[in-house]
Amino acid sequence: MARTTAIPATSELYIPSRKSNVSIKENILQTHSLPQVDTPPKSPVSGTPQRNGENGYYRNEELGGPIHSERQLDIIVIGAGASGLCLAYKLQRSFSNFSLTMYEKNPDISGTWYENRYPGCACDVPAHNYVFSWEPKKDWSAVYVGNEEIKSYFKGFAAKYDLNRYIRVNQQVVEAAWDDPTGKWTVKVRNNATGAATERTCDILVNASGILNNWKWPDISGLDTFRGKLLHSANYDNSYELTGKHVGLIGNGSSGIQILPAIHPKVKAVTTFLRTPTWVTLLQGFEQHKYSQQELEEFATKEGTLLAWRKDAESNVNKIYTMFLNGSKMQESTFKQVRGQMQTKLKNDVDLQETLIPQWGFGCRRMTPGINYLETLCEDNFEVVFGSIDKITPDGLCAQGREYPVDVLICATGFDTSFRPRFPILGRKGQNLQYLWSVEAHSYMGVAAPEQPNYFHFLGPNCPIGSGPLVGAIGEYSRSKCKDCRADIPLEAQADYILRWCDRWQTENIQSFTPKHDAVEDFAEHTDLFMRDTIWKSGCRSWYKSNTIDGRVSALWPGSSLHYFEAMQYLRADDFEVVYKGNRFAWLGNGFSQTELDKTCDLAYYIRESDDSAFLSKGKQRQVLTKSGTVVQEPEPQLVDEDGEWRAWC
Ligand SMILES: Cc1cc2nc3c(=O)[nH]c(=O)nc-3n(C[C@H](O)[C@H](O)[C@H](O)COP(=O)(O)OP(=O)(O)OC[C@H]3O[C@@H](n4cnc5c(N)ncnc54)[C@H](O)[C@@H]3O)c2cc1C
Ligand SMILES: NC(=O)c1ccc[n+]([C@@H]2O[C@H](COP(=O)([O-])OP(=O)(O)OC[C@H]3O[C@@H](n4cnc5c(N)ncnc54)[C@H](OP(=O)(O)O)[C@@H]3O)[C@@H](O)[C@H]2O)c1
Repeated sequence: MARTTAIPATSELYIPSRKSNVSIKENILQTHSLPQVDTPPKSPVSGTPQRNGENGYYRNEELGGPIHSERQLDIIVIGAGASGLCLAYKLQRSFSNFSLTMYEKNPDISGTWYENRYPGCACDVPAHNYVFSWEPKKDWSAVYVGNEEIKSYFKGFAAKYDLNRYIRVNQQVVEAAWDDPTGKWTVKVRNNATGAATERTCDILVNASGILNNWKWPDISGLDTFRGKLLHSANYDNSYELTGKHVGLIGNGSSGIQILPAIHPKVKAVTTFLRTPTWVTLLQGFEQHKYSQQELEEFATKEGTLLAWRKDAESNVNKIYTMFLNGSKMQESTFKQVRGQMQTKLKNDVDLQETLIPQWGFGCRRMTPGINYLETLCEDNFEVVFGSIDKITPDGLCAQGREYPVDVLICATGFDTSFRPRFPILGRKGQNLQYLWSVEAHSYMGVAAPEQPNYFHFLGPNCPIGSGPLVGAIGEYSRSKCKDCRADIPLEAQADYILRWCDRWQTENIQSFTPKHDAVEDFAEHTDLFMRDTIWKSGCRSWYKSNTIDGRVSALWPGSSLHYFEAMQYLRADDFEVVYKGNRFAWLGNGFSQTELDKTCDLAYYIRESDDSAFLSKGKQRQVLTKSGTVVQEPEPQLVDEDGEWRAWC
């Protein structure tokens, strides 16, 4: 049979032409910063301005420098907590030709650990696992340490790597606006000490302002009428003396659970107002204790001891992921196990057992070790009022028609976790992220936002903040020394992802990159589908769902933390609209490799005796990176031992 070929319409044909009015010279000069030559000589061959090479060759000046020349990159980071510091460290470590300005609204750095100073404030994961993966601390004083010790870790980190030179404290970002023609953000800043206003532009804006940074009062009528001392856990006044006072405490989230046993020895009495049951468990092997001198010495001097400890703890966390999936054996066994533990600790107080032990899945909202919490609730000078609070009066709180007088009211009532920015972020065509995220916050993979070019958000919507180590999710997770892994590539996470984009921007003539609408919506749709069969949907109220019971799970990643690291390893630039600064190939430059111009490097680096090159498939790279075949893992059910004790920790 004869075959016919349809002739495409002219509009479908590729017609080679100059697409831009901008001259090649303009484009390329924007990309490569060349030394200024007063009157460039002309090439005797082409007649165009040229630079003489060392050996007399002619290169058109418009071509610029060698391939991948790094043009000046100006970055602004909002916030100097763990996320901002992580980015600053990594940027400084790997990049040149950059400027970095970090605005921090507080008078000091370290974010969460500067602001949260309530009695009992501490980490709820072993401190040895609340560190950057490359920056262990040998002398943590205990398994779980207080806010001051954690704050010193981050401050010490900033000082050690000289990061304070980038940080401007007392500077609160009040607006950020994108300008399309120049491809820059203008960031407006208020000095919280003097009130002065300034502004600064940048190429890339990184929002590291914290997912748990916007604390909120409870929505209860009469709060402003209370005559006693009113405190919030995340804005605590440590100068206030609780000794001998009758304290009202609202909330049994992680903050309330830490506060209660900490204030117990001082106060006259506590009336605690609880609205929802909660899981409290301290797991075998990770009980709180102060490290002995011998343990500290071993960590400090016995090579490999601390690393083994950290890896063991971290592996345990990474093993429990199936617990978050409905119907899993691990969910079933831990549910039973922790229920039993709580019943025992509540000393057979049937009322407390009934009100405090949840029916919904274990892990539906963040679990906490709750050191001494349940035991304290059973003490004599404690009263537990279960149910909603009707109103607050000048003297106390009313619930179920009865007034409970208190001297002090501590609201451990959490944060606004809606992801709606607290200041206008005006992206393409002035589209305000406050508006775009006013109902549901749909992000690109937890790290970028719709309509916001050259913009990143640390710990944005749908990140792995509930199923594994959090600092690991901010920074790199592990580092391999294997020669097969391309340039010692670690498993990636947000800081690495952001900086990979910065590298592309700096070396590939990019003006802007913005996640495509359909990529953002596909990610949200996939996430929602995934969440349907998770424990997070099992009926608790939690901040993972913007403090609702049945809302969208907006704070968690659709998978494990390890899954996230692998997902973030590749840029997937096809999910972004990329706009070039003129000719997209300007970065090819003058035809020279930087290798040729580097007089200290091996020009024949690819000649070898055997094939020790990087593997090219994701599968093989993963096997090498994770040292596959070298570890024998316990089968999953072994996490609960012969006596029914759960051995993992989360
Ligand atoms: C009490 C408490 C205990 C926690 N314990 C744990 C734990 O044990 N384990 C765990 O994994 N996670 C824990 N978390 C979560 C914790 O928030 C993260 O682990 C981590 O500290 C987040 O770091 P970050 O830099 O992203 O945010 P943050 O630490 O919140 O830092 C954000 C910074 O941005 C600044 N900022 C905000 N807005 C602006 C603005 N407009 N202009 C300038 N600066 C601004 C803030 O002042 C702050 O310094 C805890 C959280 C809380 C509240
Ligand atoms: N290292 C740690 O141990 C630690 C310590 C603190 C915080 N954190 C992190 O910070 C997150 C937030 O913890 P958080 O405890 O500050 O906040 P949270 O988990 O959101 O808990 C807030 C508590 O306040 C109660 N509440 C809020 N409004 C109320 C109202 N109007 N009436 C009655 N009760 C009200 C909530 O009750 P409902 O449950 O009924 O909503 C809940 O018990 C944690 O999940 C964790 O990620 C960690």
